[in-house]
Amino acid sequence: MTETELILNKSSMLEEVKSGLFQQQKSLPSKFFYDERGSKLFNDITELDEYYPTRTERKILEDNIEEIAKYLGKKVLLIEPGSGSSSKTKILLSNMQNICCYIPMDISGDYLNKVAEQLRTEYPNIQILPLSADYTKPFDLPKSSPDARKVVFYPGSTIGNFKMEKVQQFLKVIHDIIGKDGAFLIGVDLKKDIEVLKAAYNDSKSITAEFNKNILNHLNEELGLSFNPNLFDHKAIWNEEKGRIEMHLFVKEDHSVTVDDKVIDFIKGESIHTENSHKYSLNEFADMVSNWFDVKKVWTDEKDFFSLQYLEPK
Ligand code: AVJ
Repeated sequence: MTETELILNKSSMLEEVKSGLFQQQKSLPSKFFYDERGSKLFNDITELDEYYPTRTERKILEDNIEEIAKYLGKKVLLIEPGSGSSSKTKILLSNMQNICCYIPMDISGDYLNKVAEQLRTEYPNIQILPLSADYTKPFDLPKSSPDARKVVFYPGSTIGNFKMEKVQQFLKVIHDIIGKDGAFLIGVDLKKDIEVLKAAYNDSKSITAEFNKNILNHLNEELGLSFNPNLFDHKAIWNEEKGRIEMHLFVKEDHSVTVDDKVIDFIKGESIHTENSHKYSLNEFADMVSNWFDVKKVWTDEKDFFSLQYLEPK
């Protein structure tokens, strides 16, 4: 990023932080979890016994790879918004012969290019075209994209982190980018026993607590703030009405933090809401996407904890 882009980035981050903390129910955008330490902590979460989504989704991909390949078609241009380390995608790239080109997308261009270089060595027969862009807004594919069926892959149930309005915006962006012959392959976490859900987000090793509190460290470092993470307790709660796990940071004692030119009071017992993770029934999900897509095929694990869904545009 250039100097000006960095400054613009910081000022928009500060604005987002302020607008969240000035609300009655204080909140912070969950995208701010993912600095270097946050990404590492999330990776540790995916290996916890209680955190079922990652390993369950990987198993669904592995167990059904041949059928998935058939649904995707003969010649596929695979696009992945928010690709990160592309670790789940490698299951597809390694086991399917029909992918001619892969477009990993991420905001952070440096990391993206590093991953792209590794992928080129690992998959010499697949064209790798990294695209540094914010996929929540309309974007264009690289001009050099080959002529093939456009398939968007969006694993991890990350769609569950969006607010309802944002989900519809995102679905339209994907619908428009794949065109009428394209497809959308998406990982969707399902409703289940609430105790299983609560354990997944309140793990016994408190890695999720570290991950949640790290958002404050990230703000301290990036914006020069002086949050004391020790004055907050992590807790994830199930919101039955909204059908989602919410992560909060509960204030342990009264204190205040200065943000820009404003003093923000934190009162014992109140919380900062840091993340939503929506869970769906199969019908709820099909309804939610129905303005843009038809669900054509659903794969699940034996416990029906997680689903991989194949969608076609309307
Ligand atoms: C990667 C955003 C899908 O919501 O389950 C894990 C993030 N938060 N534990 C999720 C997360 C707490 C994760 N997503």
